[in-house]
Amino acid sequence: MRVVLGVSGGIAAYKACELLRLFTESGHEVRVVPTREALKFVGAPTWAALSGHPVSPEVWDDVHEVPHVRIGKSADLVVVAPATADVLAKAAHGLAGDLLTNTLLTATCPVVFAPAMHTEMWQHPATRANVATLRERGAVVIDPAVGRLTGADTGPGRLPDPAEIFQVCLRVLRGRPRDLAGRKVVVSAGGTREAIDPVRYIGNRSSGLQGYALARTAAARGAEVTLVAANVTLPDPAGAKVARVESAAELRDAVLAASADADVVVMAAAVADFRPATRHDAKIKKTDGEPEAIHLVKNPDILAELGERRRHEPGPRVIVGFAAETHDVLANGQAKLARKGCDLLVVNQVGEGLAFGTPDNAATVLVAGGEPVEVPFGPKEDLADAIWDLVAVRLS
Ligand code: CTP
Repeated sequence: MRVVLGVSGGIAAYKACELLRLFTESGHEVRVVPTREALKFVGAPTWAALSGHPVSPEVWDDVHEVPHVRIGKSADLVVVAPATADVLAKAAHGLAGDLLTNTLLTATCPVVFAPAMHTEMWQHPATRANVATLRERGAVVIDPAVGRLTGADTGPGRLPDPAEIFQVCLRVLRGRPRDLAGRKVVVSAGGTREAIDPVRYIGNRSSGLQGYALARTAAARGAEVTLVAANVTLPDPAGAKVARVESAAELRDAVLAASADADVVVMAAAVADFRPATRHDAKIKKTDGEPEAIHLVKNPDILAELGERRRHEPGPRVIVGFAAETHDVLANGQAKLARKGCDLLVVNQVGEGLAFGTPDNAATVLVAGGEPVEVPFGPKEDLADAIWDLVAVRLS
């Protein structure tokens, strides 16, 4: 596929080199179109060497080839990363003062913007209006990540991880639907840790990969995503708002707060069923005699609580649970679906080498009032899409 990588003048321009490599290494033909300002951060030789094509921000080079029209018209995808407030404004208003903005005006293919700027600029009403205009016209504008910005400041405005931008672009190239646009979804991911003392905890083997795949695919399908992540070290999925928690109690608070106005809640996190009754303030020391027993108490069942609440008050239209079973997978799953009052229950068989920490998964999705759906062994992204397909049907 022919990809145009537009690079505008932000400090995150250096991260676009990695995005460029991801495209070229997976066989795409990439034409880099930087702005003049972008070249102050990363020079033209870098883009030319990495892409194998000449690079210019001007419409005045190679005029006989009419680059200001040809590049945009022949592209299968234009991605602008980083997209500054300035380039978003120019694109929204149809200005055409350089090769990138000309390309944006002549492109008939899908366009993805990955904005990066200081929080104030991202939140300014002018930028909000420009982003809304671009989205109305069908462009995909990825919400920036929250985190450390150029200086000491932090907030929304960081360029998402290049690998995450790449995933969004691949989905757009494959023509995946944006059928969750306008929906608010909450996804919990990872595994909770229940503190024993300041250095020890009771935890589980959940990697967070499935929950992150769910958040990534929902955001790519247009949803407004809050990801409640328990002890996950993966890069933030592009476009998702991430709340980090440690224990089941923290996860419960974060999920319930985010669920108040959500359309969908997916509980993919492995929540500890029990926690130590007391958390020692000081590290427990070795003693000569018998070790002290750890007394456990039950944690609240968040999924069951969501289902129960919805019986009395308005709540998410679709609640999705997960069940990890080592035996009697379907029978246990059906009982859990009924007991927890959810609409879909994704049942995984777990054990040695299955599901935890692996990039692939297979599952049976149990549907309240419907037939189970088998999802064959494959990438966790595919299972995530299959789940969102079922959710989208229930939302429509
Ligand atoms: N879950 C939850 N709160 C808990 C425990 C689990 O919200 N305290 C959610 C998980 O996120 C998952 C689903 O419930 O979506 C199933 O969790 P699982 O541990 O498999 O089920 P349990 O009800 O704990 O049943 P069992 O341990 O007997 O298998």
